[in-house]
Amino acid sequence: MEVVIFRDEEQVAERAADLLVRMLSVKPRAVFGLATGSTPIVLYRQLIERNRKGEVSFSGVTSFNLDEYLGIAPGDPQSYRSFMDREFFDHVDIDKARTHLPSCEPGDNPQLVGPRYEAMIRKAGGIDLQILGIGQNGHIGFNEPSSSLVSRTRVKTLTPRTMQDNSRLFDPGEIQPRLAITMGIGTIMDARSILLLATGERKAGAVAAMVEGAVSAMCPASILQMHERVTVLIDEPAASKLKNREYYERAARENRALKERFGEFYADG
Ligand code: PGA
Repeated sequence: MEVVIFRDEEQVAERAADLLVRMLSVKPRAVFGLATGSTPIVLYRQLIERNRKGEVSFSGVTSFNLDEYLGIAPGDPQSYRSFMDREFFDHVDIDKARTHLPSCEPGDNPQLVGPRYEAMIRKAGGIDLQILGIGQNGHIGFNEPSSSLVSRTRVKTLTPRTMQDNSRLFDPGEIQPRLAITMGIGTIMDARSILLLATGERKAGAVAAMVEGAVSAMCPASILQMHERVTVLIDEPAASKLKNREYYERAARENRALKERFGEFYADG
């Protein structure tokens, strides 16, 4: 696990944007796993800006989002489809027909959405780069604590903690979904490379548990310790509870020197 610490969320987003852009220069038809939430918004803004300047094109990209609420229509402003359109897709040259979320259309059986989504990801050739945030309870996607570490895309019940964390995004009186369809932890682990972004002091405990704690279903993000290609980009406040910080900083310097000398390496590049 490569842990890289930056001054603030702008720098985290800049580095993440660099990595996405570099992957697209090697593989213009890359398949991205995308995330919603407050954390990746800064990254999306930077990518929109680079697209506007002509520095990167998303025209060949296929995307699969991590999750979607169950119980609100995909067109609802609170849906993650609406979030992605508003925060990213509507502002870049991506072909929306190739942007996917595990949405459940009204009347559809939600239990069939997961297996269908898995099949679509497989058909697209698998995910090259998965973007992740992390919940204060250590969740990735909506894989809440106690989720099977080998789970696939399925319906999950949100924990009271997640409901409370996300309540800030709902107006009083607005219905907040209690269920979601999320890529499973096994689905996420199948991605060829993973980029996890975490910013702010409220994430410090979850980041420390993920990087330095035991692998446990009670901190779903800790399974990333078992993935071969994970980069964790965090800002100072999110790094504040890490014990081995000096080592991560030294390793990041060494890795940067290696990359400057030999270039970025992608397993399938
Ligand atoms: P946030 O959510 O970026 O809004 O903090 C992250 C998550 O819950 O995965």
